[in-house]
Amino acid sequence: MKIALIGYGKMGRIIERIALERGHEIVCRIDVDNQDDFASEAFRSADVAIEFTAPQVAVDNYKRAWAAGVPVVSGTTGWTERMPEVRREIDEKGYTLFWASNFSLGVNIFFELNRHLAKIMNHMTDYEVDMTEIHHVQKLDAPSGTAVTLAEDILANIDRKDKWVLGKAGAANELSIEAIREGQVPGTHIVRYDSTVDTLTISHEAKSREGFALGAVLAAEFTRGKQGFFGMKDLLKF
Ligand SMILES: NC(=O)c1ccc[n+]([C@@H]2O[C@H](COP(=O)([O-])OP(=O)(O)OC[C@H]3O[C@@H](n4cnc5c(N)ncnc54)[C@H](O)[C@@H]3O)[C@@H](O)[C@H]2O)c1
Repeated sequence: MKIALIGYGKMGRIIERIALERGHEIVCRIDVDNQDDFASEAFRSADVAIEFTAPQVAVDNYKRAWAAGVPVVSGTTGWTERMPEVRREIDEKGYTLFWASNFSLGVNIFFELNRHLAKIMNHMTDYEVDMTEIHHVQKLDAPSGTAVTLAEDILANIDRKDKWVLGKAGAANELSIEAIREGQVPGTHIVRYDSTVDTLTISHEAKSREGFALGAVLAAEFTRGKQGFFGMKDLLKF
């Protein structure tokens, strides 16, 4: 399969290695200094573009890839306030986007556990719930896209919470997410239920970026030849 990379940073480079190991061809690498390559024959020849860049440029990159007739797989986080606009464009114009706040298999198992636990804890009103996420110091957005996904699943299942806040909760209906930035941490997420008698914690700790990169390449293989909006639930079929 022919893959174009949009964003040749930490993720783009690992994705390139894994894609090559899986027998794919990298036909184009676009970063900040070769933006004209969106119009190149090489880019247009790609079956899929894999986009890992930055929150403020992601949606423009999708549009430029779509204009060149190339479906997109993206893991860029921090732009989802524009999701309604992106979904509308996909529906109206028949474009393709596979987006995931987290491409690792372990985190997607963790999402399922989190939803299940939240359903149980909805009835356990003596427990206060909060979250912590820890990432490397270069990460631009906070809370992480993964933490937002976890928080939204908690809000959907715990009636006593109806909004998440970054930092300490100021009211009983708020779900606190603490975001810590330190060292080279690839990504740790913790969900904690605390009562006066005990604490119940579930957590996921990524050991490297490999799991995210493999998931993105598997998503590219899944996306080839498909039309519409897809996520990890489509790929993993839990
Ligand atoms: N979904 C997931 O599983 C997952 C996993 C890891 C990281 N991420 C997210 O992916 C994004 C990238 O992460 P990273 O660690 O590779 O970051 P990075 O900073 O190492 O790399 C980003 C690259 O994008 C380039 N870039 C910036 N603007 C661009 C543009 N307009 N066009 C093309 N390239 C451009 C930068 O020059 C850089 O090389 C972040 O939003 C991060 O939060 C998601």
